[in-house]
Amino acid sequence: VTEVASFAARVAEVRAEADQVRSLRLVRADGGDLPPWTPGAHIDVAIPDGSQRQYSLCGDPDDDSWQIAVLREQNSRGGSRFLHEDVVVGTELTVRGPRNHFPLESADSYLFIGGGIGITPLRTMISEVRRRGLPWRLVYGARSRSAMAFRDELDALGSAVTIWPQDEHGLLPIVEEIAAAGPGAAIYCCGPEPMLSAMEQACRDAGRPDPFLERFAPAPDSLADADPEAFEIELARSGEVFPIGEHDTIMDVLEANGYPVDSSCREGICGTCETAVLAGTPIHHDSVLTQADYDRGDCMMVCVSRAPGGSRLLLDR
Ligand code: FES
Repeated sequence: VTEVASFAARVAEVRAEADQVRSLRLVRADGGDLPPWTPGAHIDVAIPDGSQRQYSLCGDPDDDSWQIAVLREQNSRGGSRFLHEDVVVGTELTVRGPRNHFPLESADSYLFIGGGIGITPLRTMISEVRRRGLPWRLVYGARSRSAMAFRDELDALGSAVTIWPQDEHGLLPIVEEIAAAGPGAAIYCCGPEPMLSAMEQACRDAGRPDPFLERFAPAPDSLADADPEAFEIELARSGEVFPIGEHDTIMDVLEANGYPVDSSCREGICGTCETAVLAGTPIHHDSVLTQADYDRGDCMMVCVSRAPGGSRLLLDR
């Protein structure tokens, strides 16, 4: 579990990429070098109400600037409205990162399924896979052609890319694409929640491993613990023990007792509050960690995850 620093970034370029999508190019405000990153990484951007939003880095990791693309949400809680209306070239933003919970794993070939603004991390992954000379395919859907960021650039990559506007073709042909993917293909998917749930189900039905997903919202069953129970946490460094009531989160209790926790989404999707577990068995409710992480049982997202009633978790804090 690594600490990630925040710093001031300056907007160096703003571009309209599609209907309701603009991209921002960011450089360090102090002129220094940006931290390195790998395809699939995201950053947090602080917005004026004090909260944070997560955006995938969608440019080239070798560039000396970062690029993010922002969809203006219809029901914006303020983040996308701010980044669309108030941010201009020269604006300074507080950013933190990068983190990567959606890394590009080794595989024989790749199937990328992107929905809407979910194309952002896939764009960089495709560049990397092309650089490695591996077979790949992209199916890119959105409600219409005009809503598709980076459409022309991706379309120009040839027959490996299928552009699938919903108003022309209907829903993405997920089942067919999964069936056509080779047995050693890694499947990466980023987009709206119904698409991600459909991908998970379709992979299960096809007897394939889970796809690699990046979520913008908690998975539908991630908070399904209908009857949370009280448990305890012990902090390894101070030896203090705190009860976690049925309606508390570990994060709330830590913060209330003077232990600030790095956080961003507070709903189990960004990975910022990852905390090492030294003993005890977490019940995970996040949408970030993989089954392999769960099987190891050595870390958890303290904004949402819990432990069995009456048990104790020893946290590395
Ligand atoms: S703060 Fe985002 S996962 Fe906990």
